[in-house]
Amino acid sequence: GATLTIVAALAYLLGSIPFGIVITRALGLGDLRKIGSGNIGATNVLRTGNKPAAAATLILDAAKGGIAALIARWLVAEDAAQLAGLAAFLGHIFPIWLNFKGGKGVATFLGTLIALSWPIGLACCATWLLTAFLSRISSLSALVAASSSTFWMFFLGQHQLLILGMILTVIVFVRHGDNIRRLKAGTEPKIGRKKG
Ligand code: G3P
Repeated sequence: GATLTIVAALAYLLGSIPFGIVITRALGLGDLRKIGSGNIGATNVLRTGNKPAAAATLILDAAKGGIAALIARWLVAEDAAQLAGLAAFLGHIFPIWLNFKGGKGVATFLGTLIALSWPIGLACCATWLLTAFLSRISSLSALVAASSSTFWMFFLGQHQLLILGMILTVIVFVRHGDNIRRLKAGTEPKIGRKKG
């Protein structure tokens, strides 16, 4: 009851920290909201042309979910770890610091899965990387990686994660509505291109 509520609230607040905005502002890279897709994630930070800033955004946005899940597992239990990962993911997407207008959740999704079950997390990262290698499109890679998560959970015997995997995947798809429209129209930019 109370413990889980506190865990979820703290994980949400951690997930709410928009590292893409924090890092681009600190480095004076311009207003991320007016660059490319306008998204706050690592893919859009890369459109500023600053690769280390994009890498730092990816790692820190992933770490929000991973650290929230690991601390919850350590302090409470496995169920709390899943709840904390979900709360951090929702924090990234609906951040209290940005009037609830946040990102698409891909990095936080991957970080959470690595913490909950590293084979699943690594399998999803590998799926993302393979799709990105073949297509050079970040959003498509995210959609394929998210979709693959429940398959990996099923085949690698992590059935306790299936419900969470489905919830995260549906939300990732909903958040990529504009990307899906551009993918259908053939106008989705490749990774690293300045226009979005
Ligand atoms: O992580 C978000 C990615 O899948 C798409 O980002 O900026 O191309 O909409 P963006």
